[in-house]
Amino acid sequence: MAKLLLSISILILSIAQFFIQGAISSATFTFVNKCDRTVWPGILSNAGIAPLQPTGFALQKGESKVLNAPSSWGGRFWGRTHCSEDSNGKFSCGTGDCGSGKMECAGAGATPPATLAEFTLDGDGGMDFFDVSLVDGYNLPMMVTPSGGSGRNCTYTGCMADLNGACPAALKVMNSDGDGVACKSACEAFGEQEYCCSGAYGTPDTCKPSSYSLLFKTACPRAYSYAYDDKTSTFTCNGADYQVTFCPPPTTSKKSTEGQETPEAQGTPSVPQFDSGMVFEGANAMENSEASSRNTYIHVAIMAAVMTVASL
Ligand SMILES: *[C@@H]1O[C@H](CO)[C@@H](O)[C@H](O)[C@H]1NC(C)=O
Repeated sequence: MAKLLLSISILILSIAQFFIQGAISSATFTFVNKCDRTVWPGILSNAGIAPLQPTGFALQKGESKVLNAPSSWGGRFWGRTHCSEDSNGKFSCGTGDCGSGKMECAGAGATPPATLAEFTLDGDGGMDFFDVSLVDGYNLPMMVTPSGGSGRNCTYTGCMADLNGACPAALKVMNSDGDGVACKSACEAFGEQEYCCSGAYGTPDTCKPSSYSLLFKTACPRAYSYAYDDKTSTFTCNGADYQVTFCPPPTTSKKSTEGQETPEAQGTPSVPQFDSGMVFEGANAMENSEASSRNTYIHVAIMAAVMTVASL
């Protein structure tokens, strides 16, 4: 009888633990600012799900910040640049502004052009889907690096190139000094269906890459360059945590990445892999602390079960 009660207690506590783990965190996002100035990340959660908080914050040069995503979270991240507060306390940004007038975007999205990192956690088949998109234009180099996950294309993605310098004149957004601060998509610049994949061009068969989207694709082969660029731009992981890096630094490493040969490997510098131990010194500590808190929980659960039986 005691044995049975013990087994039941452990079972119940294990089930509770499973749900608590799931509800607390299905993934962590670590935001890292490697730019030479402050970036103000913005976060927009998809409609109808528990939002990820805060919805906007400042990330100083060299700083990083960890957020725990609610389970099955989905939404997008972007970086705002050239932000300031006016004399009335109204906050606004030169690029990626969300129009809230505050540091937090509170449900508002980025004004294009802005580089976006898009996520759907625990999607089809329990996989996380993610991508970096230039469909709404570009304002900053961004990289997403999964850690601890599994899957055939569970690997980094992003747009590491500086497209502000390389932006064609027709798409370029400049500040008052004439410096390029962002690069529009052709859809935004010209508003034509052929570029926006709308109207008669609203299917994967009819909407083809344009000379403009190809420019983006050449510079950033892993990023979405137009609406139907899914095949080469959607990545999937099972059970990963993610680092979102603004202005990822180029490395001198010549090591190519398994099975994912792209023009990037020759042209722009290769980016650090997760196991390079360079950018991700904090990751092991993070995983270890997660594992140890899980172990603590199990020990407490077993102790509670034993005490329950002992008190009978
Ligand atoms: C990753 O895998 C998904 C699902 O199999 C596939 O749709 C996508 O095209 C793959 N992405 C890349 C970049 O290979």
